[in-house]
Amino acid sequence: MHVVVTGASSGIGEAIAREYFARGASVTLVARRKEHLDRIAGAGAGRAHVVTADLADPNVGWSWVDDAEAALGPIDVLVNNAGIQIVKRATETDWEAAERLLRLDLHVPLHLTTLLLRRMIPRGTGTIVDVASMAALAPTPGMYFYNAAKGGLAAASEGLRAEVKKHGIHVVTVYPGPVTSELEAAGRAAYEDSATTRNVPTGTPEVLARMIADAVEKKRPRVVYPRMYGMARHFPNATRWALDALTPPLKD
Ligand SMILES: NC(=O)c1ccc[n+]([C@@H]2O[C@H](COP(=O)([O-])OP(=O)(O)OC[C@H]3O[C@@H](n4cnc5c(N)ncnc54)[C@H](OP(=O)(O)O)[C@@H]3O)[C@@H](O)[C@H]2O)c1
Repeated sequence: MHVVVTGASSGIGEAIAREYFARGASVTLVARRKEHLDRIAGAGAGRAHVVTADLADPNVGWSWVDDAEAALGPIDVLVNNAGIQIVKRATETDWEAAERLLRLDLHVPLHLTTLLLRRMIPRGTGTIVDVASMAALAPTPGMYFYNAAKGGLAAASEGLRAEVKKHGIHVVTVYPGPVTSELEAAGRAAYEDSATTRNVPTGTPEVLARMIADAVEKKRPRVVYPRMYGMARHFPNATRWALDALTPPLKD
């Protein structure tokens, strides 16, 4: 099995790559920090291919997908995981930074998915995993552009599932709540210290990675983790109220 993980150099993507190595898969690891990717690829015992690329750069192109298939065979699973977050007032966000986020968190997964579907559909098999966010189910004050990107990705992902099922393709939509990572720590630090930020239930990348690989194997439609955040799907109005009332102010 050949799995491509974007954003494989740290956090959730690193854990997904390591989980698939442990399950005997071959993994293409994509991100910018080559030294991190090389270290993680070491766990793959020859079943790794490293792609060093800035996916937010519109000039980077997609020839690396052909190189990955030449190295490890046809891609069976695409994990759209690379992402950045901006936690800032909407009006104070630099537009160039916002466009970079929208490109990496929304345009790139949609582009990669359509590119790979064109290869998976004729083969009658394949899985697309979209790492969205709880921000898609419960948009968070202070994350204007991130909410837009993750909401868009989750909507596209959920709607795609039935469209491609008849071709033997499965789609897994992932909704992580807080999960320990560089991105999560920076996001939390942007808010004023409060009981909410200190006590918010937080998961680990390793447990999430196992749940994602299990969902791919068992053809589950979505993963919500930590599991308690599943209540956002069942009680959207109460969740909206809680986020508006309890999200602490952004630091100045
Ligand atoms: N942790 C959470 O609480 C949480 C919650 C909800 C959703 N998520 C989502 O989970 C995904 C992974 O995030 P994480 O928490 O694991 O954060 P992370 O540790 O910061 O990982 C982000 C990954 O994306 C890669 N990346 C960033 N910019 C890139 C670019 N321009 N080109 C290629 N790769 C790039 C990073 O690698 P390089 O820097 O080496 O390029 C890194 O591997 C993201 O999509 C995030 O939105 C996370």
